[in-house]
Amino acid sequence: MPQSLTLHGATIEIVPGALDSLGARVAERAPGHRVAIIADQSVAALYGTRARAAFGPADPATLLLTFPAGERHKTRQTWGTLSDQLVAAGCGRDTVIVALGGGVTGDLAGFVAATYLRGVPFIQVPTTLLAMIDASIGGKTGVDTPAGKNLIGAFHHPTLVVADPRLLTTLPPHEMRFGLAEAIKHGVIADASYFSWIAAGLRQILDTDAPDEATQMHLVRRSIEIKVQVVRQDERESGLRKVLNFGHTIGHAIEQVTGYGVAHGEAVAIGMVAEALLAERLHLAERGLADAIATVCDAAGLPVRLPDGVSPAEVVTATRSDKKSRGGQVEFALPRALGEMAGSETKYGVRVNDAETLRALEHL
Ligand SMILES: NC(=O)c1ccc[n+]([C@@H]2O[C@H](COP(=O)([O-])OP(=O)(O)OC[C@H]3O[C@@H](n4cnc5c(N)ncnc54)[C@H](O)[C@@H]3O)[C@@H](O)[C@H]2O)c1
Ligand SMILES: [Zn+2]
Repeated sequence: MPQSLTLHGATIEIVPGALDSLGARVAERAPGHRVAIIADQSVAALYGTRARAAFGPADPATLLLTFPAGERHKTRQTWGTLSDQLVAAGCGRDTVIVALGGGVTGDLAGFVAATYLRGVPFIQVPTTLLAMIDASIGGKTGVDTPAGKNLIGAFHHPTLVVADPRLLTTLPPHEMRFGLAEAIKHGVIADASYFSWIAAGLRQILDTDAPDEATQMHLVRRSIEIKVQVVRQDERESGLRKVLNFGHTIGHAIEQVTGYGVAHGEAVAIGMVAEALLAERLHLAERGLADAIATVCDAAGLPVRLPDGVSPAEVVTATRSDKKSRGGQVEFALPRALGEMAGSETKYGVRVNDAETLRALEHL
């Protein structure tokens, strides 16, 4: 059954087959606007024609702007090129940007929309699992620089998010697994039964050759619900948004020490297991939690140990560059049990000594 949610004025629609009715959906939210679709070249090759056709075959004003796929193109240069193309096409304030693609496209096109003529509306049409359940929700946009990821950006909320789970059928299996790491995270931080549902349904979830629509729908819907619920509650400054960082403090450190040689989803899987073990060792979490997370990640084809050649000590050193590091202590978002996070008294931030983190990583 189609479901919709709202966040920061954005309607989030989760509808199988929605790509083909994109024109009507966009027209409802941005009436009379000129449409500029931004997609990477791979997604444009797969879905560009269908997306354009959804805005009416006879509408030559609809633009489809493309850039080469991949994180290494999420740059100021690509942002500049896309912005110049909008200027050259005479796009005015009545332009609506449609980001059709994964998180790279959403972040990049969202940043173009945030800055073009000081901000035009934009619509997210996420095409990867990661983009559907994470990157397209929450309003963060931006680009990378040689000094680091996402260093330049803006909050710019989409007016509409259209998640069409059918688009996942063309996603390479490894991209599906990377996104699944975030769905597993959503289960751990907020919903034990969702975690168990993923654990029990892994084979079907990852079967992109014979996808089951009800399964894909539940996967995407429940994950989006959890992210929306967390981000919305944080508007009351409960600090709750920090829980989305579970697995990411150690995950980011692993990405850093491997020079991004480990994919984000893989680093998050290792990070979740390590941080759950840390929570157990600090007597915050019940015994067996790290094992339960490791079992699901492993069955999903995600790594659960530090990569060869990476030492616990260098990972600990890298966690110190985390924004929340202070005086030999780093702040973590740690679980108490499946579906429940520790530290509600401390706004969900748990400060941990480096020595403790090191010991947990040595026991991984
Ligand atoms: N803004 C946020 O809150 C937020 C949150 C998490 C991640 N992100 C960002 O998201 C980015 C990662 O996103 P991603 O993993 O979606 O990467 P991506 O956008 O690079 O997509 C991964 C690959 O899949 C291809 N692809 C996309 N959809 C497809 C489909 N339906 N079928 C076949 N191929 C398809 C793409 O061409 C690309 O090669 C990172 O830059 C990260 O910083 C942002
Ligand atoms: Zn993540």
